[in-house]
Amino acid sequence: MTQPMEAKRLNFFMDKINGNFKKKDILSLDQFDPKSLSKLFRTTDTIIRKLKRKKRLTSLSGKIIALLFFEPSSRTFGSFASAVKRLGGQTIEVQDVGRNSSVAKGESLSDTIKVFESYSDAIVIRHPEKGSAKIAAQAATTVPVINAGDGTGEHPTQAILDLYTIYQKFKRLDNLTGLIAGDLLNGRTVHSLIKGLSLYKKNALYLLSPKSLGLPTELMNNLAKKIRLVEIENETDMPTNLHFWYWTRVQKERFKNLQEYKKVKNRFIIAPELVVKKGNQHMIIMHPLPRVGEIDPRVDDDERAVYLKLQVPNGVYTRMALLTLILSRL
Ligand code: CP
Repeated sequence: MTQPMEAKRLNFFMDKINGNFKKKDILSLDQFDPKSLSKLFRTTDTIIRKLKRKKRLTSLSGKIIALLFFEPSSRTFGSFASAVKRLGGQTIEVQDVGRNSSVAKGESLSDTIKVFESYSDAIVIRHPEKGSAKIAAQAATTVPVINAGDGTGEHPTQAILDLYTIYQKFKRLDNLTGLIAGDLLNGRTVHSLIKGLSLYKKNALYLLSPKSLGLPTELMNNLAKKIRLVEIENETDMPTNLHFWYWTRVQKERFKNLQEYKKVKNRFIIAPELVVKKGNQHMIIMHPLPRVGEIDPRVDDDERAVYLKLQVPNGVYTRMALLTLILSRL
């Protein structure tokens, strides 16, 4: 007779990591502290070294990870699939879950999760509703749930790769001044990244967005207690000594009124002229991608542009590290 799966914990979803990732759900940057991020980055460094030496990695051998994506994705889906396979594991991949599973027949999110937890050792979920990853984590009593983007809420694994990219460049995550631009209202990557940067001392962020797309008020009020935030509405107000620019797409899919989207979609664009005027030699230019016109492709060849060169590959390495720490060891 098969043994029942060991419960992951007793209703402690949203556990703080506190340096121990084992079987933890990853739902929000609120769970993290600098010590846990350092551990994750050290594991990422080790994985990169091993991959460079062509070492075979087997930390997910015998494990099955369910990738349940209710919303479109290229990077998060592709990099999780790649990460699992590079670690010797296997995936159950369901894209457009709302159409390609029994959700189309009316099955609830909780029931869907309870079913897939019997088939897998961890569940990675992307869903259009803010808070959905938490609902999934409550439903899954035996396997960890990783939030791969919950509506306008958070995107913690994107923030992890973004923080790792900044750390790679500056060898620290404190005492940095950056710019975050675009759709700060709906952009879940931004919400998680600012929470991550607020864990470290002496960071400051300039927030460049149309007034209608500023950070949600509650988030702004909470974060402003932990990190210096300066809202600006014009490129002319950008300081020239920033460590990073983090540009984002205006999230068309979150707008109820398309006319409103059209009014703001191309308000802030990085072109080579802006980099010359407001950039500096040492900064990096970041974007979670996809971009839809807000970074001129002529910027791609600039050595400071890291969205394709570093952020995309780091998405695989950091997710390999995260899955290893949650489910196994190197
Ligand atoms: N950065 C990001 O989440 O990209 P995808 O939507 O393609 O996964």
